[in-house]
Amino acid sequence: MPYASTLAPLTARHSGPLKGRARVPGDKSISVRSLIFGALTVGETRIEGMLEGEDAMSSANAMRALGAALERTGEQAWRILGVGVSGFAEPRAPLDFGNSGTGCRLAMGAVAGCPITAVFDGDASLRTRPMRRILDPLAKMGAETVGTAEGGRLPATLRGAVDPIPIVYEVPVPSAQIKSAVLLAGLAAPGTTTVIEKEATRDHTERLLRLFGAEVAVEAHGEGRRITLTGQPELAPAHVRVPADPSSAAFPMVAALIVPGSDLVLERVMMNPLRAGLLTTLMDMGASIEVLDRRQEGGEDVADLRVRGCELSAVDVPAARAPTMIDEYPILAVAAAFAEGTTRMRGLKELRVKESDRLAGTAALLTRNGVAVDIEGDDLMVHGTGRARGGGLVETHMDHRIAMSALVLGLASDTPVTVDDAAFIATSFPGFLELMRSLGGELS
Ligand code: S3P
Repeated sequence: MPYASTLAPLTARHSGPLKGRARVPGDKSISVRSLIFGALTVGETRIEGMLEGEDAMSSANAMRALGAALERTGEQAWRILGVGVSGFAEPRAPLDFGNSGTGCRLAMGAVAGCPITAVFDGDASLRTRPMRRILDPLAKMGAETVGTAEGGRLPATLRGAVDPIPIVYEVPVPSAQIKSAVLLAGLAAPGTTTVIEKEATRDHTERLLRLFGAEVAVEAHGEGRRITLTGQPELAPAHVRVPADPSSAAFPMVAALIVPGSDLVLERVMMNPLRAGLLTTLMDMGASIEVLDRRQEGGEDVADLRVRGCELSAVDVPAARAPTMIDEYPILAVAAAFAEGTTRMRGLKELRVKESDRLAGTAALLTRNGVAVDIEGDDLMVHGTGRARGGGLVETHMDHRIAMSALVLGLASDTPVTVDDAAFIATSFPGFLELMRSLGGELS
């Protein structure tokens, strides 16, 4: 656990225009899912464009510990020989998911459908995050939580079900991780497992399950969806092409918008509508973003995005949009600081249980750098003036997105911005520093 002993501070300075073409790493949600689904499938699954960040690597290690064979065959290219649904072997040591909530929670679902016992653990950040939201529905499906740390946190020991029970489950908070854990456990159950979500969340699990040959029906359910999976399918190995992660593209995108004179193209960015809330919001703010060459790749819509520096205006972001941009609020808040007027972002309760308390962390990163903010209930207000003083030292609290957001702010603020620890950026965006420098960002 590197935190505290090997802090890696990093400083961003006011930079000239950002220019060039860039491809950000593969989507984290799809990379982690592909590893887990490949491990649950007998035969050879191939993944191209895989995120080789720490979050995906911890899932790869966990899948090995559960009996699958995984091999890196080239740059961002992986081969998996899976063990089949319910085929996991009992791991000899605790599974360490590092910083990755997605890897941990989805693997809990997959393990819940196997007659094995496994201990789930992670770093100090993951150990603070709520796990009952996953363990409770899995208990209804027959998996027993043998023990957890206080408050249902990691480390947690889960005994999978010998005879998994299919359920109908209404997810209490909008969360693709809860939905996915239930569906993964449902793979091992007879009959159909149904998940009802009041608000639609990212649907990569549904899309990938189909790609691997499972039967998944999706119907509208009020504002949300009702997803029904037919259990005990014969999964067939797949070839997954992972598009660039829109949540990572968000950082160079906002950097280009707020650094005057910038002009860059971000290639092959995933345009899944359930991940596109930031793009919608930035467009509402008057952002100069052109969607070029929209096309289908690997079962997802992708496009190249041309982004140019421009003036932004404040907006009111409705709570209903939150599930489609849940990871993007810290960087949106940075864009809002450079807009004229007060941007109000509504319904951010779930931000409190991310890699850190991101509502508090985002507010702190802005106030430290001379930007006025208010938190009212679950809403964040950023009082933008078109500029930021900067000069602050930002505590990242083991949170990659807080670190990258603060550094992007520093590229456009009057004085430099320093983060206490940039090491966690490698969880989702290996090569961030080099990529931003190659575009002209002054980071050292
Ligand atoms: C993810 C779902 C979201 C998101 C996370 C990735 C996923 O979490 O914040 O970064 O891949 O399913 P929640 O399910 O907790 O909203």
